[in-house]
Amino acid sequence: MNKTVICPGSFDPVTLGHLDIITRASKMFGKVIVAVLVNSGKNPTFSTEERMELLREATAGLDNVEITSFKGLLAEYCKSSGVDTIVKGLRAVSDFEYEFQMALANKKLNPQLETIFLTADADSTFLSSSMVREIGSMGGDISNFVPAPVHDRIVKKLRKQ
Ligand code: PNS
Repeated sequence: MNKTVICPGSFDPVTLGHLDIITRASKMFGKVIVAVLVNSGKNPTFSTEERMELLREATAGLDNVEITSFKGLLAEYCKSSGVDTIVKGLRAVSDFEYEFQMALANKKLNPQLETIFLTADADSTFLSSSMVREIGSMGGDISNFVPAPVHDRIVKKLRKQ
């Protein structure tokens, strides 16, 4: 489908679960814009530039994927970018309430917006960036959780924490 969609998120850092959703979206749509939230209030572990760089490396093989960042409301960012479709991954029922709430709020803010959910890969249902940060910072093995090309950079950063 020749359509541009946005995959928004904190990506602090990118996980194999994120990469799975981005990869599948890239096969379904003409272009995928991966938009990293510049969440100044959340005090992320990885800077916006680091998060974008990790995503760029992790998605290097996907020609129709572009990495960018955004500040403020996602609904406004979509409007100003001319994109009307958000793609997100749903890991479990526990994600649903929050994601459903966000999808409805975004649609109220920008009625053109649709949110499409892809079910997470069975191997990724338990996976989150916060879990990666915790295991990595305590010296645990995160090789099954993050994309191989960026594994060493993520480990290095987390061990310094
Ligand atoms: O990876 P995350 O943390 O689940 O991503 C959440 C994200 C970035 C998609 C969401 O927090 C967001 O869109 N933030 C931007 C601010 C905004 O638009 N808030 C209102 C959404 S209802």
